[in-house]
Amino acid sequence: EKAGYKHFMAKEIAEQPGVLADALRHYLKDSGTALSLPEEVDFTGVDRLTLVACGTASYACLVAKYWFERIAGLPVDVDIASEFRYREPPLSPTSWALFVSQSGETADTLAALRYAQEKVAKIVSVVNVPTSSIARESDLALPSLAGVEIGVASTKAFTCQLTVLAVLALKAAVDRGRLNPEALAGHLAALSALPGLMNHALGLEDRIATIAAQLAEAQDVLFLGRGAMFPLALEGALKLKEISYIHAEGYASGELKHGPIALIDSHVPVVVMAPRDALFDKTVSNMQEVMARGGKVLLLSDGAGVAEAGAGIWQSLTMPMVDPFTAPILYALPAQLLAYHTAIAKGTDVDQPRNLAKSVTVE
Ligand code: M6R
Repeated sequence: EKAGYKHFMAKEIAEQPGVLADALRHYLKDSGTALSLPEEVDFTGVDRLTLVACGTASYACLVAKYWFERIAGLPVDVDIASEFRYREPPLSPTSWALFVSQSGETADTLAALRYAQEKVAKIVSVVNVPTSSIARESDLALPSLAGVEIGVASTKAFTCQLTVLAVLALKAAVDRGRLNPEALAGHLAALSALPGLMNHALGLEDRIATIAAQLAEAQDVLFLGRGAMFPLALEGALKLKEISYIHAEGYASGELKHGPIALIDSHVPVVVMAPRDALFDKTVSNMQEVMARGGKVLLLSDGAGVAEAGAGIWQSLTMPMVDPFTAPILYALPAQLLAYHTAIAKGTDVDQPRNLAKSVTVE
């Protein structure tokens, strides 16, 4: 069943170019040049979205917030399911609530969905298991099409969730008159390029394994990112802690000097996830603050970013150039591989980490 891989997680990481291409075939048409969504996905008159999920799925929602707000101009609230319902948030009847879940059975997410029922105009879900409770209780369930995911650490489900959310954000932008045909074509081309870019990223696995062997010595690791890469920093940290048991935290790069920089010394590696985008220069200065305090920076960037970052970096990983829109999807792969190989170096149980369950059906 592992098809020659040592772990389900390794297999599921490697499957991503293929399953993502499947998802794109489902949600795009005309050779990837047009959106293909059910008719009821019409954002006309929708004035707000509430996105709710747990764990990795909640980080997909955080990335989607950047997309919906930036590209579609649609305000988005993101919440973790366990907090959402007990806060009893007011929900507007002209808003939609969107629930993201691999299993479709996460107790808190299901309860949050039930809380939103009757309060919003539409309950939409992005689920990997189409027969799940969350899918059944939604007005519209969109499959994430990642295929069965067995490893407790969510990998391919995450990148497929992101893909469906990206397509939804583009549809919202079109419906709200925010995207002209050329801009839409550019975004669609960026999505279609992802499977190829993912193959390239997977080709960096040996280099990542070498870095991971050193990361395995650390007690604490920080992950930094800006903009839509901030949720990827959270995801990188979650992946590392859940399978390698190394304490890791993700921060928005700009938050560093508001506290976490006190932790920096030569024993705390800092993983900086920063493609060469409009925010890169600011991230470089945050990186320099880390290095000035003896911190060890591992930079994940493209060739331009690695070249520009200058001397003093502990390690760098040169990713392919990618459109800023789809960068968060691509950068999930090195984060997953880094966690996987760190766990391998430590000899932990990658597919069945201690204390965790694949599907959390209790509160
Ligand atoms: O099945 P779900 O997507 O609802 O699960 C949500 C979280 O429990 C899940 O993403 C968890 O954080 C993963 N183990 C992360 O790798």
